[in-house]
Amino acid sequence: MSPRQRAPSGLAELARLACVARTHAHAPFSNFRVGTALRARTGEIVTGCNIENASYGLTMCAERVAVFKAVSEGIRDFDAVAVAADSRRMTPPCGPCRQILWEFCGDIWVRVQDVKGGSKTFRLSQLLPFPFDQRNL
Ligand code: THU
Repeated sequence: MSPRQRAPSGLAELARLACVARTHAHAPFSNFRVGTALRARTGEIVTGCNIENASYGLTMCAERVAVFKAVSEGIRDFDAVAVAADSRRMTPPCGPCRQILWEFCGDIWVRVQDVKGGSKTFRLSQLLPFPFDQRNL
């Protein structure tokens, strides 16, 4: 898929679901709440939120929660993911989440949404150019 290809429909709804998922965030340490909605080609949507821990390093990002939930339920073959942070700045997936998304989703569409309703849509390959994956092994 080329980055210039037109984004699929339903990304605004996916972002809305990411905002709902964000309300479940457990983020007492950073107070930075993130929600994700991951869509499979079947139309199934799996959500995630960030889950922090007093042992900070155990914190899990919203994107990875969604991917791991989906994969653990046998859901694969994704076409889009929406990420909504409760920030006025557009917040893209962090580096480790880009890597995990690449592993399980390949070059999917990534919709990033801020609290003001602003959004941007990328291909994952734009956010993670020249990725490391099984082809390198
Ligand atoms: N966080 C995410 O959930 N996703 C990202 O891509 C960036 C960071 C979370 C982790 C932590 O709970 C909080 O945001 C602050 O880093």
